Amino acid sequence: FRIKINEAAPLRARYEVPDVLIKEPTTQRLSVSQKEAGILVLTSVNKDYTLQVTANPFQVELHSKGETVLSMNSNGLLYFEHLQPPPSDRYSTCLSHHLEKQEDLGLWQEKFGSFLDFKAHGPSSVGVDFSLHGFDHVYGIPQHAESLLLKNTSDGDAYRLYNLDIFGHKIHEKIGIYGSVPLLLAHKPNRTSGIFWLNSSETLVDINTKAVAEVRQRAVPLTDVRWMSESGIIDVFLLMGPTAFDIFKQFAQLTGTQALPPLFSLGYHQCRWNYEDEQDVKAVDAGFDEHDIPYDVIWLDIEHTDGKRYFTWDKKKFQNPKRMQELLRKKKRKLVVIVDPHIKVDPMYALYSQGKDKGYFVKDRNGQDFEGICWPGSSCYLDFTNPEVRKWYADQFAFKTYKGSTNILFVWNDMNEPSVFKGAELTMQKDAVHYKNWEHRELHNLYGFYQQMATAEGLIKRSSGKERPFVLTRSFFAGSQKYGAVWTGDNTAEWGYLKISIPMLLTISLAGISFCGADVGGFIGDPEPELLVRWYQAGAYQPFFRGHSNMESKRREPWLFGEKNTQIIREAIRERYVLLPYLYTLFYRAHTVAEPVMRPLWVEFPGKLETFGVENEYMLGNALLVHPVTDKEAKAVSVLLPGSEEVRIIQSCSAHTSVLYGNLPAPHLIIIPVFQRGGTVIPLKTTAGKSTEWMIDVSYELHVALDTEARAIGELYLDDGHSFQYLHKKQFLYRKFTFHKNILSSSQKIADNGRKNLLFFRINVNRGMETCLGNFQDETNTLHVRKWTIPHHMCS
Ligand code: NOJ
Repeated sequence: FRIKINEAAPLRARYEVPDVLIKEPTTQRLSVSQKEAGILVLTSVNKDYTLQVTANPFQVELHSKGETVLSMNSNGLLYFEHLQPPPSDRYSTCLSHHLEKQEDLGLWQEKFGSFLDFKAHGPSSVGVDFSLHGFDHVYGIPQHAESLLLKNTSDGDAYRLYNLDIFGHKIHEKIGIYGSVPLLLAHKPNRTSGIFWLNSSETLVDINTKAVAEVRQRAVPLTDVRWMSESGIIDVFLLMGPTAFDIFKQFAQLTGTQALPPLFSLGYHQCRWNYEDEQDVKAVDAGFDEHDIPYDVIWLDIEHTDGKRYFTWDKKKFQNPKRMQELLRKKKRKLVVIVDPHIKVDPMYALYSQGKDKGYFVKDRNGQDFEGICWPGSSCYLDFTNPEVRKWYADQFAFKTYKGSTNILFVWNDMNEPSVFKGAELTMQKDAVHYKNWEHRELHNLYGFYQQMATAEGLIKRSSGKERPFVLTRSFFAGSQKYGAVWTGDNTAEWGYLKISIPMLLTISLAGISFCGADVGGFIGDPEPELLVRWYQAGAYQPFFRGHSNMESKRREPWLFGEKNTQIIREAIRERYVLLPYLYTLFYRAHTVAEPVMRPLWVEFPGKLETFGVENEYMLGNALLVHPVTDKEAKAVSVLLPGSEEVRIIQSCSAHTSVLYGNLPAPHLIIIPVFQRGGTVIPLKTTAGKSTEWMIDVSYELHVALDTEARAIGELYLDDGHSFQYLHKKQFLYRKFTFHKNILSSSQKIADNGRKNLLFFRINVNRGMETCLGNFQDETNTLHVRKWTIPHHMCS
């Protein structure tokens, strides 16, 4: 259900968020009946839901099969500040209202430290409350460095959605960082519901969970959620579920699904602020080969440019960027460079002079180009909300325009909250003015979303529409999943930040953005070796896997911490590469049916209360349960295995019967506690290679973990890994594997136009403590398991 509240005849149009919904949602006619005077009842076609609208006091109640799911304004907190003429107009002829005038003025301008925010259109905030009946577990509304379960805010700060660059941000704070997705999910054993608050201005969310007494003397929980936004209108979608997977689909119908990443971008990324010069890049690249560690991408931070002029190169350090890229290409690897949204004020810099001439920069309240300080010093900010600017910006990525770029160069958008040093809260003034005269306050949270959109379009365009882009962004909004990946920004090299990265990534994943990661090792500071090792092990099982470090931190390429640690990191990264067929298949599912790659336990076990608050472990797809070790000197981890199936520990191939909180000894740094769920088949590669491209011909392996009825199912998606042929020509392979009655068989999952050559699989089937190893040829063969053995190492 979508509920929109706007003024009937506002003094000027109010901002309605554009470009986030992929299309205007199709509407269904509801049958309308009148219950009594002032109460309307709207019923959905299939009669599953009714919406009761009461006129006075205004309230909306949503029922499903006799159950009240959600109500709006039941606490009467709906408010809507109507636009008014400025006080000068209203009071100019009436001096006796002097006092009110003074008070009123406070609503038209606001001081923040030394900053004065002129509200040209006056106060315009909106808000309303919702009650979620029977729910006491709520999730979502990233991004905060906070726990998975949203906390009660009645005694403290509300969750804030306001994209900010906070260097060294703290943990367990409600302040908004970098990105915002105003989607909240509520879950109880038989139902998941969602509220999508489509508003891009500064937003606060208050949460209050309480038990209310119900009939039959049972205390039933209730969660009140109050949304407040600085401007815009009330435009809210009530997502009905009833399952979590339905919510993901419903949200994707509105905002789109995860873009299918090019395969290389699921490999390991090596980043640092900064890899100094061509020589450094070459040496680091060679280091990976010397130490036999796979990696796919090396990254260049801001120092690679000529004085922080993006799309240029520092001519001394990078004399021949094409030569450098050719070297990487030969090694079957890629390059990512940073491209920030601020543009150095320099009339000799083409991007600046063109931007200025064309009027493409955001303006200040006096109509001049807004100037702020960022990396290059005085800078102007491109107005990506203007489609013409986006088109022009996209064209900057054309190979002939972006000198020194080749088709193995991909892009990183940073500082796009936007970050403005010395600005109020280190961002742009709210009274800055954008395309069509909209104030920055209306669309602040959308700025980074638009930059990534334009960049992704640029990369697609430079390949004449043939190749998939890869763009990482720091700032994001609902729908950013369509344009690439996000990361959690500047974390710190401390155990607490490793721990919090899991709930942070789970929250981003729940909000539709599957391709997410956190800087491995922690960006700020120097991790002790044990922390670095554990971080690699955690990162290897997260969707976006990049090591990154700050300028001031010591070098930390994986081989700098002694042979033992190098070995463990190598193993973790190799495990990642072996896992890629499974991961890529999960991304295909995220792309096509909106299933998050990384998901909280409760999503897979919706009826199991004990999973609802779990944030130290998670599911990767439906088959793997991952419990990264995030404690210093951990000797054991306590793992919750919630299913009734048997599970298999990935590394030892041994079986564990599902128990509540099994204690897995993890005395060795080498162990990553990962479990395969009984009843699943996962596709792997038989070994890792130097990079994803080196692994094209490496054969596949299926790991089959049987459930208690000795059955299992799974699937494998594969395509060329880089183009849009999967979409336009259906060139892919999508197989379904079934293990039943001791027979493993493979079938076509959906009609494809894929490679007709046959795939060979090495098979590893697990039943309790026993294993069957075999070979299997796709389509011509079914595997009959006759002989079970207990693996040798298990006997001893
Ligand atoms: C801030 C980003 O968060 C960080 O990852 C990057 O290294 C610096 N900006 C420099 O570009």
